[in-house]
Amino acid sequence: MKLKSILVTASFTALPLFAQQQKQVYLDASKPIEERVEDALKRMTLEEKVAMTHAQSKFSSPGVPRLGIPENWMTDGPHGIRAEVLWDEWYGASWTNDSCIAFPALTALAATWNTDMAALYGKSIGEEARYRNKNVLLGPGVNIYRTPLNGRNFEYMGEDPFLASKMVVPYIREVQKNGVAACVKHYALNNQEIYRGHINVEVDDRALYEIYLPAFKAAVEEGHAWAIMGSYNQYKNEHCCHNQYLLNDILKGEWGFDGVVISDWGGVHDTKQAIFNGLDMEFGSWTNGMTWGKSNAYDYYYLADPYLELLKSGEVTDKELNDKVRRILRLVFRTNMAKDRPYGSFGTEEHALAGRTIAQEGIVLLQNRGNLLPVDPAKTKRILVVGENAVKRMTIGGGSSSLKAKYEISPLAGIEARVGSAANVMYMPGYASPAVAEQDKKGAKAEEKVIDFDKLRADAVNAAKEADVVFFVGGLNKNDGQDCEGNDRSSLGLPYGQDKLISELVKANPNTVVVLVTGNAVAMPWVKDVPSIVETWYSGTEAGNALASVLFGDVNPSGKLPFTFPVRLEDNGAHALGEHPGDSINVKYNEGVFVGYRWADKQKKSKPLFAFGHGLSYTTFAYGKVTADKKVMTADESITFSVTVKNTGSREGQEVVQLYISDKKSSLPRPVKELKGFSKVKLAAGEEKVVTFSITKDALSFFDDAKHQWVAEPGRFEALVGASSADIKSSVAFDLK
Ligand code: BGC
Repeated sequence: MKLKSILVTASFTALPLFAQQQKQVYLDASKPIEERVEDALKRMTLEEKVAMTHAQSKFSSPGVPRLGIPENWMTDGPHGIRAEVLWDEWYGASWTNDSCIAFPALTALAATWNTDMAALYGKSIGEEARYRNKNVLLGPGVNIYRTPLNGRNFEYMGEDPFLASKMVVPYIREVQKNGVAACVKHYALNNQEIYRGHINVEVDDRALYEIYLPAFKAAVEEGHAWAIMGSYNQYKNEHCCHNQYLLNDILKGEWGFDGVVISDWGGVHDTKQAIFNGLDMEFGSWTNGMTWGKSNAYDYYYLADPYLELLKSGEVTDKELNDKVRRILRLVFRTNMAKDRPYGSFGTEEHALAGRTIAQEGIVLLQNRGNLLPVDPAKTKRILVVGENAVKRMTIGGGSSSLKAKYEISPLAGIEARVGSAANVMYMPGYASPAVAEQDKKGAKAEEKVIDFDKLRADAVNAAKEADVVFFVGGLNKNDGQDCEGNDRSSLGLPYGQDKLISELVKANPNTVVVLVTGNAVAMPWVKDVPSIVETWYSGTEAGNALASVLFGDVNPSGKLPFTFPVRLEDNGAHALGEHPGDSINVKYNEGVFVGYRWADKQKKSKPLFAFGHGLSYTTFAYGKVTADKKVMTADESITFSVTVKNTGSREGQEVVQLYISDKKSSLPRPVKELKGFSKVKLAAGEEKVVTFSITKDALSFFDDAKHQWVAEPGRFEALVGASSADIKSSVAFDLK
């Protein structure tokens, strides 16, 4: 009797459990994600839900172990997969198998003006992230280049919202094919590093919608990004990591974003705002080692115990919590628990080559008087390389994008490898920068360095007299106050006495090529004296090989500037009219929509040093006259423009043909012209192709802040086609009815 009753009880409990397991929809990767999300959500306790909304270590957040839902693991950054750090430290964990391929900085990618390169980048870095078992890549960054002083411009895609939008979409799509979420950052208005933790940006709605938001919008609506990172700064006096306007109204409201909003590390400041103003996951808030008081420091996060207490006391309901957890579960099912998730690959030759291809396409030939470039090593016996950037490792430093690269070919190594025994290559530093402590090592200190600038310069200049050609490789670097997170530059000029050095070098040897390694525009007081200038950006693992292939002509340069190089800082709208860095509380974007070339175009008295979209080739291109397929378009029609482009030189090359639209009469002030199309065409010597661009009324619209909507006003417009924003070849007028 007794035995029977036990059996009966057992079968009673076993049945529902079995039935329950049968229905574990959330584990079934073939089921629609929304069904999985709802199924998992209803199985979770309040504590499990709250746990998911905040970090458990520097870069991870918990899953639900009881249900077999894995943790989320994030990684920096936009240019390569960051080295493993310790659980609760920024320092490296000293793994020996985490050396990545460093890809070119995003400015270099943007300078390719080639969406195929953005796709290749996304595919390669996505595979690296996947192999390292990360399900969120903290990148790409698409903050608009507002001032050349911003220390983080190198991590972004330039000054133009159209260019950044077109480049970010393929990057995201390809990353996510690996079951890795792209976390687009830093949303939004994070255009300076000084005071970044609190500065309140005052910007009008037109500039917000026309300049600063489009690349994020494209990332969400076209790239279908699964995550976005809130920025440190404030907008309308609310921190952007919990900001009603940016997150709830625009991102989740207007754009219908269904992914996860992740805070920037330490960007959360208040529990209630974090609950109600659109944040989903909190990362990087203060921790003082693993414990804080009696408990795990992570329990003190704004969205940890303080949130749980509010929920338990009934002061807040679980409405917002369920929304956050739905988004996080969606992230998990899209990545870690996705069907047929590939395995990825890491540190491969294929990825290094991808990086090299992107770097080569991004290098910009700014000036080439007398065709000094490309250099023929067979006819150039004595090559002198000058400049610290010829040997300095640029994958290290710069803040969170710093990498432990598998290898890095310096410009000097690249030049030496390319030249081989054909010529004699000599190196002189010419200048030096102060040493910096190794970012990844705890307690590392910078070595004291005494720099004798006069001697370094004199030695280099003397050597230059004996050389057939001088490659000066300088620019900025990843030190604090240069191209580096956490601070802005203090001036447009080159640091460490480089201007004087360049002037003396070119006087000593007129065959001097200046190669700039930067992520930002710099002043060039010597521009008239130096025949050839190359912008090579921070180009990663294969930097030196990519550069050498351009200097010696194996690759015909085809990069174009993704931002304006002004002559002086005052020639930039943010400095002429706007503010930078503001009064430490607020910064006013008085220049409105007139950012970059939109500002330069308005200036009667000054011209940029090098315009947005500029970049030369070793061949020449002839443009035909642009034509339109109609003279009048209606609001529901598209219009197509055609132009022939011919390679009139003697070698194959690529040209970036650019389409700008000009609104001839408008009720609101508009930029002289705006980029609305571009196409990179490859042409053999003598070859001619027809390039076409189709646009709709979207390309004619501006954001009417009074109506809070995009408006295309009927009237006259002009399509301008050119090789840069300052080199328009022809135009055609048309009307919108
Ligand atoms: C940066 C982010 C980065 C994060 C994690 C922050 O300081 O602003 O871009 O992803 O740190 O390293």
